[in-house]
Amino acid sequence: MAEGGPIKVLIVDDIPETCDYLSKLLHFERDIQVVGTANSGKESISRTRELRPDVVLMDINMPDMDGITATEQIIELGLGTQVVIMSVQGEQDYLRRAMLAGASDFLVKPFSGDELANSIRQVYKRRPRVREGPAEQVPEARAERAPGRIISVFSPKGGVGRTTLTVNLAVALKLDQPERRVAIMDGNLLFGDVGVFLNLPQEKTISDLVARFDQLDAGLLADVMVTHSSGVKVLKAPLKPQQGEMVTAEHVRAILELMREEFDYIFVDTWSSLEERILAILDLSDRIVLVTTPEMPALKNVLLFLAVADLLRYPPGKVLLVANRADMRHGIPIAEVSRSLRFEVAATISNDGQAVTNSINREVPLVQAEPGNPVSKGIRALAKQLVFSLGVAEAEEAAAREKKGLVGRLRKVS
Ligand SMILES: Nc1ncnc2c1ncn2[C@@H]1O[C@H](COP(=O)(O)OP(=O)(O)OP(=O)(O)O)[C@@H](O)[C@H]1O
Ligand SMILES: [Mg+2]
Repeated sequence: MAEGGPIKVLIVDDIPETCDYLSKLLHFERDIQVVGTANSGKESISRTRELRPDVVLMDINMPDMDGITATEQIIELGLGTQVVIMSVQGEQDYLRRAMLAGASDFLVKPFSGDELANSIRQVYKRRPRVREGPAEQVPEARAERAPGRIISVFSPKGGVGRTTLTVNLAVALKLDQPERRVAIMDGNLLFGDVGVFLNLPQEKTISDLVARFDQLDAGLLADVMVTHSSGVKVLKAPLKPQQGEMVTAEHVRAILELMREEFDYIFVDTWSSLEERILAILDLSDRIVLVTTPEMPALKNVLLFLAVADLLRYPPGKVLLVANRADMRHGIPIAEVSRSLRFEVAATISNDGQAVTNSINREVPLVQAEPGNPVSKGIRALAKQLVFSLGVAEAEEAAAREKKGLVGRLRKVS
């Protein structure tokens, strides 16, 4: 049971029978209570104000106001309500828009009662606790923890916003899910500037790990990492390029494997190269955020990299193409970008040179300095999209393992 009673849920769907059906699915969950239903987007807002649900289950297609607009308005009420969007398959674009609007999760119909209840519990756990002081730390037993996920931010073209995205994605995720252990490794080994973006002290760097590589363990790693005010832990790049040259692909691999044990999400900044150390990072990554701007030279290089990703047999879904500064003046339209690369643009981040440069020079990530800025909103949505897609992959892997186990057991029996 959630503290303070069951989790209060409001169901929103324009078909009353669907509301009834979903209520029935949740009827036997003792920690969840359906406190009401609404049959339109507009009604969902007044019902949220009146009933103060913890979680709203929101249909997308409704006649008066669609679920995405309703979600936006519910989030703007500032009541800490979490929204789970329900949609049918093939509405990928809706997923992105829903996350941008502030939804916390996305269920694809048809879903089971278990999936529904688990989603409600998960988003409830992640709700912001505005009045409850510092975020609670949920210590988990080491043995129960799944290995962390590595998300590298890469581009074959320099200056496209990799570092901006790396630091803001990590901080956005940490602010959204304070109980998660989030880290950054500055993998730009020669000219890394994550420390400058985050105003971190000139303390230890990855060079201190390399110098004592034979003693590499969790204690040494913790000693070398620096904590940002958001709670994100950072492994900084060497202070001088010549020290960066001493870091080998073997070092990078071992350090990232260790970080997987210690953190839930590890964001890795990179530089434009396909040398061995970068390939070590990309190979180990669960997701590669491939950054481009809507300009010809960047697209030309992204196209070349996508061909390499094919040769490396990266599975579908590993690479997420992100168009940064997507709405820049005279930029190539995003539909055209997808068409010419034959690769879907998974997310777009808007262009705001003044706000981004200002935040870099003040050394405060934009998602903290200006959370309402469209660039911040886009980055927060991308962070959620990454977590969501990794969660889906994890569930699919678990289901595949279970199926394999079952087949194995059946074979033994027969
Ligand atoms: N969304 C954005 N809107 C406007 N300007 C942006 C945006 N994102 C990044 N920039 C600008 O682009 C420049 C490069 O950003 P950043 O340093 O993050 O790129 P990078 O790919 O890490 O570059 P490098 O090759 O130096 O590592 C910065 O001046 C930053 O202000
Ligand atoms: Mg950079």
